[in-house]
Amino acid sequence: MPADLELNLTLYPSPFLRRVAPVVKTFDEGLKNTVTNMLEVMYKNGGVGLAAPQVGLDLRLLVINETGDREKTEGELVLVNPTITSRKGENTLHEEGCLSFPDIYAEVSRPDACTVKAQDVTGAALNLELTGFLSRIVQHELDHLEGILLVDRMSAGDKLRNRAALQELVDTYKQGL
Ligand code: CO
Repeated sequence: MPADLELNLTLYPSPFLRRVAPVVKTFDEGLKNTVTNMLEVMYKNGGVGLAAPQVGLDLRLLVINETGDREKTEGELVLVNPTITSRKGENTLHEEGCLSFPDIYAEVSRPDACTVKAQDVTGAALNLELTGFLSRIVQHELDHLEGILLVDRMSAGDKLRNRAALQELVDTYKQGL
């Protein structure tokens, strides 16, 4: 991808968000530019994580910064071809949002800790043990690579509470077709 390409957010209910993202095989300048562009979209929209399918890219690639602050680059985490190798700890409920579901929030139950195997942007192996908020972000973003979305993880009550906002997204999507 060229360095200055503008990426746009893919919103629910685009069927693109339902695809299983294919493995990244090429670690080159283009991939580094893709990461830079994805981080830009994430920060611009006030997110703490973004998966490639959310910007229309068919790649197993996540960018994360749990601080959401572009100045705190030490918080940036780039995961290429991530897989969760184990889930541990108590299942906890916590409110989640998603850049593909603007203004929609829901309580999602996930295990507190996980271990993740991935590659960095150069292709080097990463093994991470994560807990708390970062573990939750990674689990949320990894769902995107499998085509699993916030709406699938919502309780019936949260779905009802967000019904009007979800319907608005569906209507907006249909108008754009
Ligand atoms: Co999301």
